[in-house]
Amino acid sequence: MNTVEWSDALLLDYEPMDTVHREFVDLLAAAQNASDAALPQTWAAVVAHTVRHFGHEDEWMQRTGFASADNHIMQHRVVLNLLREGLAMAQAGQMDPVREMAGELAAWFAKHTQTLDAALALHMRREPPPVATVHRPRGGRGAHASPG
Ligand SMILES: [Fe+2]
Ligand SMILES: [Fe+2]
Repeated sequence: MNTVEWSDALLLDYEPMDTVHREFVDLLAAAQNASDAALPQTWAAVVAHTVRHFGHEDEWMQRTGFASADNHIMQHRVVLNLLREGLAMAQAGQMDPVREMAGELAAWFAKHTQTLDAALALHMRREPPPVATVHRPRGGRGAHASPG
């Protein structure tokens, strides 16, 4: 089984994303190390985190008009649906498929982070912050026609 572990290879140099990714690794590691009795609860925490994690990324992509948003958002949706199915299985006492899913999730996460999330992080580092701090003059002043 792939066991999730934080490594600097997962760092994307975009702090809001790195923070949420460290949290993901911690929660998935807790689920992977959980006893059968604790697995449903720890898996529920992974699912709850993932709703927020993917929700943030989806919102960043939609707000900034990120070019590859559709594919990335679709991948989030597919994975989140699988994780929810896993939760139903854990709650029904089917632990083996959930442990298998956890290993697959760990491998998926590393790949996703280093490809789609890396591209998004690069894009977000170039975006202005969401709250505008620059006040643009309204009306006539500053509205000069550009030459040529
Ligand atoms: Fe992510
Ligand atoms: Fe993502």
